[in-house]
Parts: sequence; C-alpha cells; structure tokens
Amino acid sequence: MSERTLVLVKPDGVRRGLVGEVISRIERKGLTLVAMELRTLTRETAESHYEEHASKPFFGELVEFITGGPLVAMVVEGPRAIEAFRSLAGSTDPVSAAPGTIRGDFGLQIGENIVHGSDSTYSADREIKLFFPELG
Ligand code: CMP
Repeated sequence: MSERTLVLVKPDGVRRGLVGEVISRIERKGLTLVAMELRTLTRETAESHYEEHASKPFFGELVEFITGGPLVAMVVEGPRAIEAFRSLAGSTDPVSAAPGTIRGDFGLQIGENIVHGSDSTYSADREIKLFFPELG
C-alpha cells in the first residue's frame, strides 16, 4: 500500500546546494516525487506547519530559520514512504545521526538539519494539505 509524505529541503539545504543530493537519494531509494516547489514560507504558514512545537523554547528560532530563505517542498510517495524518508533523513540531531543518512552526512546543528519529513500519517495529511492544497 502506497502512502505520501511531505519532505522539505530546508533553507540551509538550499543555501548549501543540497537539493539535488536529497532528491537523488529519494529517487535512488525508489520513492516517487508527486509534487515539488521552491518557495519562501510566510510566518503564518511556518507557524501552522510547526504548530505542535508552539510551546517549545526554540519555536521562535525555528520559525525565523524556516522563513529565512527559500526552501523546496515536495510530496513523496511509495510503500511506507513516511518511515522510508525518515530513515533516509536520519535522527533529528545531525551529530548523532548515522553516517549514510542525509543529516548524518551533511549536518552538525539540530536547528539546521537540512530536511524535514512528516512523522506520522496524521502529520503527513495535515502538512500535505498545508503546502499543496490542490492535492487534497
Ligand atoms: P523537524 O523534523 O523539521 O521538526 C522540528 C524541528 O525543530 C526539528 O526538525 C529541528 O530542526 C528543530 N529542533 C528540534 N530541537 C531543537 C532545538 N533544541 N533547538 C533548535 N531547533 C530544534
């Protein structure tokens, strides 16, 4: 059974020229791109995307960072796509993320960890609707 997940190449990933690298890993894994767009988030969209982190001490910093430059948003599809992409991404903290993962290979800071992937079917539905309402 196929499912969909929302993937972001965050502004640090775009700035560092890692968009192609991330897309290449997604495609080599066998996942399929169904939508993709380069865009700069408004504060409103960023706050909505990260609503479950609203009470965290780093929320302000997170919103500043994610709105601070263009990012690439994509919808990725495949069998267990949510878990498959999270496995490609590696742990949230790039220092402890396994080498061979995107964060493990390219990151050093938890706040600038290159990619985001939805963490559940509920989040994937919500985030896909937020970024690509036309996919419904
Ligand atoms: P992401 O998967 O996009 O979801 C929430 C983000 O919050 C996470 O990736 C991290 O980039 C960020 N984050 C988590 N913990 C911290 C922290 N302690 N300081 C700054 N950012 C954080």
